[in-house]
Amino acid sequence: MTLLAVAVGGRGLVDPDEPVLRADDEALLRGRAAFETVRVYGRKPYRLTEHLERLAQSAERIGLPAANVLELAELAAQAIGAADTGDASLRLFWTPGNGEGAPTALALVSSLPTHYDALRERGQRLIALRGVRAEEPWLLPGVKSTSYAVNMAAEAEARRQGSDDAVFVDREGVVLEGPTTNIWWRRERTLYTPALELGILAGVTRAAVLELASGLDYEVVEGTFPLADLAGADEAFTSSSVREVMPVTELDGEALGRGPAADELQAALRAEATLGQ
Ligand SMILES: Cc1ncc(COP(=O)(O)O)c(C=O)c1O
Repeated sequence: MTLLAVAVGGRGLVDPDEPVLRADDEALLRGRAAFETVRVYGRKPYRLTEHLERLAQSAERIGLPAANVLELAELAAQAIGAADTGDASLRLFWTPGNGEGAPTALALVSSLPTHYDALRERGQRLIALRGVRAEEPWLLPGVKSTSYAVNMAAEAEARRQGSDDAVFVDREGVVLEGPTTNIWWRRERTLYTPALELGILAGVTRAAVLELASGLDYEVVEGTFPLADLAGADEAFTSSSVREVMPVTELDGEALGRGPAADELQAALRAEATLGQ
């Protein structure tokens, strides 16, 4: 992903090579900042309102000053306008600075990773890794903060073991989510996905898939499921803003079947996101 455009609160567009944060920004010192990653289709950020709402909630839960969502939306528009592509990834940040001055809003537009279409074609290999079930409020369930080193370490461990990505399970083997994705699987006409009560992130794409699935006549069950349910599924896939709906074809070295739901939902997601373009 190449950084194409950057807009900063109070300053507007800046050169992407220019440093924009204080050296003592809490985002750097402690990972205390809220962020969002949004997929941009034809210069339109998909479900931006939902992303801004989640960012505002994350900021509140981390204890940051209230997020200025209007400013973030304006910066997003400026950065999208300045990038030379309509299909991109938009990242929004709300950081408290050093906690004494004003917070900083940032909008970053980057090119999309180039290998996702090939990965969608082939399907992802996942491994199950023990993760944290955020059962207490101070474990920040459902919060998207810049403390993502653990998530990135899990992804790296999956790659080290020859897989593409990880899926977290708790101590009892209950399926949670991926480091940057929500997880789904299908048995016959029913789709299953872990419930938000498990402390996972309320994915914006997850919410979109929930809506689109009923339009495609799938039943959806949200709940608490053991890993064996995922392993024994007819098909499985992940959902996330930039990777969209991505089939899973292997779990812990065992093949998983391919099926129609992932392709149908990916097509429906694209159709909704690019409506009128
Ligand atoms: C931990 C986690 N779960 C799920 C998701 C998927 O969320 P969304 O569909 O809003 O991109 C993400 C996105 O980055 C994530 O970090």
